Amino acid sequence: MTTLDRAACEARDRTDPLADFRKDFLLPPETIYLDGNSLGPRPVGAAERAQKVIADEWGTDLIGSWNSAGWWDLPATLGEKVAGIIGGGSGTTVVTDTTSINLFKAASAALRMQAVDAPDRRVILTQRENFPSDIYMLEGLAEQLGDGYEVRLVDDAEVTAGFPEAMTDEVALVVLTHVNYRTGRLFDMATTTSAIHAGGARVMWDLCHSAGALEIDLAGSGADMAVGCTYKFLNGGPGSPAYTWVAEELVNRFAQPLSGWWSHAKPFEMSPDYAPADGIRRFLTGTQPIVSMSVAELGLDVAGRVDMAEVRRKSLALSDLFIELVESRLSDHPVEIVTPREHADRGSQVSITHPEGFAIMSALIARGIIGDYREPHILRFGLTPLYLGFADVWDTVEALRDILDNRLWDDPKFKTRGAVT
Ligand SMILES: Cc1ncc(COP(=O)(O)O)c(C=O)c1O
Repeated sequence: MTTLDRAACEARDRTDPLADFRKDFLLPPETIYLDGNSLGPRPVGAAERAQKVIADEWGTDLIGSWNSAGWWDLPATLGEKVAGIIGGGSGTTVVTDTTSINLFKAASAALRMQAVDAPDRRVILTQRENFPSDIYMLEGLAEQLGDGYEVRLVDDAEVTAGFPEAMTDEVALVVLTHVNYRTGRLFDMATTTSAIHAGGARVMWDLCHSAGALEIDLAGSGADMAVGCTYKFLNGGPGSPAYTWVAEELVNRFAQPLSGWWSHAKPFEMSPDYAPADGIRRFLTGTQPIVSMSVAELGLDVAGRVDMAEVRRKSLALSDLFIELVESRLSDHPVEIVTPREHADRGSQVSITHPEGFAIMSALIARGIIGDYREPHILRFGLTPLYLGFADVWDTVEALRDILDNRLWDDPKFKTRGAVT
């Protein structure tokens, strides 16, 4: 048994330098929210911002709002804010579309660039355990390109070892998710990027599970491009638009395939001839979801105000506590921790497995403690320092203990699956 108790956790909460950020979010009462790695909660002011865009901007200025309310520039305005959070540098980031679509556009652009720089390289590497949409999009792209383009899947161990087997002179591009969505494994961006460049390939990072949760230095790492979403640790709202980042020196070399009018150099000349805009706007395609994008700005502004080093420190302290409590208080049960123990290898979640994972998570959610479930048997707990405290972690593990000790999960009502788990 651990010597820790709830009082010790409460004491840590009292001296937490990030405690005040809890006031920036609206969560339902009596809820412990451990799913901010899937959908972040609502920032204070989100409903009012949507109301303002709909009633004042759309309702009053109508089409004039494209200019007067800055709608036209929002993808780049928000891109600058994201760039500040991911260490991107000015003029490198644009907020638009979904992660899946941005990944397709950026991968296509990277392959077009490689077709000039290294025409014999036609293989795309990505993690076998990557988020499936990334793999599907890359396979769709390779299939469409034909002509020898193919996707090869690599294990995490191959990535962490610097691609000793997979990095041949056929590899054009490596697409890697920075934090594994299931296990929470974090990959070292700088070292991995260097290994890929040494092998002659370009690299794209998917930051969905790391942006807003830890310090990222994209420009400093030498990466070529990155994509990510704004609805997880950046608290942008359901379906809020994603972003694309491109290394400054590559921005004007990139030619993306979905070259719609928003990416044109002079869109209002309505010319039948396409000419890409100078700068990161060339990544856009068509008209953007302005209400959703406007609301996303609030979450980006919160992330822009925090000290990301402090966020990372607390995130690791929360996940250390979670792991320690699971090990000491659930040791009578077939629970396994699949998240790496090393800080350098851990993102901002802890995942545990149990053969009855789905029913256990349902029983936990019924008590207002919200995590989620991923196949196979994985219970995921996102540890988000801006609105979670140490006592919340204690209460979560105690609830798990009660559910396991008393087999409370073994009830038909906890075994029915909805469309989303
Ligand atoms: C790592 C990762 N990549 C890509 C995606 C897909 O994002 P989207 O649905 O915005 O295309 C997700 C979604 O959760 C994800 O977690």
